Amino acid sequence: MALVSPSLLSADFGHLADDCTMLNESVADYAHVDVMDGMFVPNISFGTPVIKAMAKHCQKPLDVHLMIEQPERYLSLFRDLNAHILNVHYEACKHLHRTVQEIRALGMKPAVTLNPATPVELLQDILPEVDMVLLMSVNPGFGGQKFIPQVLNKARRLKNMIVEQGLNTLIEVDGGIDTNTAPQAVEAGIDVLVAGSFVFGSNNPKETIQWLKSL
Ligand code: DX5
Ligand code: ZN
Repeated sequence: MALVSPSLLSADFGHLADDCTMLNESVADYAHVDVMDGMFVPNISFGTPVIKAMAKHCQKPLDVHLMIEQPERYLSLFRDLNAHILNVHYEACKHLHRTVQEIRALGMKPAVTLNPATPVELLQDILPEVDMVLLMSVNPGFGGQKFIPQVLNKARRLKNMIVEQGLNTLIEVDGGIDTNTAPQAVEAGIDVLVAGSFVFGSNNPKETIQWLKSL
């Protein structure tokens, strides 16, 4: 059984409350919230007022993915916005250990995200401090991109590191998850599937979430 975190980046922003209701009625484990600043990634997604609306309508725990420079500037803001998991990019943090500690001290679950080119071995010493590692299977910034299969190898290596250290850190994957790639990801040891266009672009999003969860 996989955990499922549908990405609201692919929701219909004209009817955001309806898409949140769909998630509430589904078996999704989280709601994935993609925050982009136009600096760390080329795209800008949405800011505080929209996230407030998501938090208001969404009963699933928020799995917030910060694709922003210097995310340490905004940790308490995301606590106030009711983030449950707070993902910061390895590539965006000068003092990752401190940032992770601050996220935990604020009462959220810290997670570290890696871009496709960043090796999992760099996480050796921070692994015991985080609840989850998010492996990007596309270059961050846009929904609907093609899955980069090298992430499967990274997931296997990361799983070995987690087992060797006797931890139960979750591994999440984000980008290009669909009918073909989701089973491969689970097979490689991934626990949490983020899916945007696959869920919100499907004829029956609740059923699609149910299918992902059954993997
Ligand atoms: C991309 C975001 C993803 C995005 C995934 O930078 O981090 O969460 O919504 O979209 P799909 O599932 O369509 O690849
Ligand atoms: Zn994401």
